[in-house]
Amino acid sequence: MSQPVDPAPGRRQILAAFVTAVTAGIGASLAAILGAFALKPSRAAASECWVHAGTLDDLTANVPVPHVVSVPRVDGWYRERARQMVFLVWDGNQQVTALSATCSHLGCQVAWNGETKQFKCPCHGGVYDVSGRVVSGPPPRPLESVAAQVRGGNVLVKL
Ligand code: FES
Repeated sequence: MSQPVDPAPGRRQILAAFVTAVTAGIGASLAAILGAFALKPSRAAASECWVHAGTLDDLTANVPVPHVVSVPRVDGWYRERARQMVFLVWDGNQQVTALSATCSHLGCQVAWNGETKQFKCPCHGGVYDVSGRVVSGPPPRPLESVAAQVRGGNVLVKL
């Protein structure tokens, strides 16, 4: 009966070193991938930022003025700029409030009616007052309030 012949100690060491190197390479690759995801800013933190929405010169006191702002969006590795409409309401001094123009019912864009001094939704007849509260119709919630600030005559909103 013949016994299997052991490979020479030198060959065994080379094989063990090769397996160790491959295992270390795979481990380092996984660590790099997991580290990249761990160090990447969270989606919520990266997607909210202050964006320029106009100047005080564009606004009329106590009249909601629509502005389309371009908002950078980050979703994983995908980056884009989304357009979003907000209404800016200037108090005549240095205070500006902002409301989302997106109806809380099914997401249509509301419009300001200067005669009735209300926001109206063209889709299902939702009506909001100047501060965004629901007056009538199917909307379940007020218009979403958007953080706004004035800096050096420029209006910034946080989206
Ligand atoms: S989407 Fe505005 S009332 Fe339905």
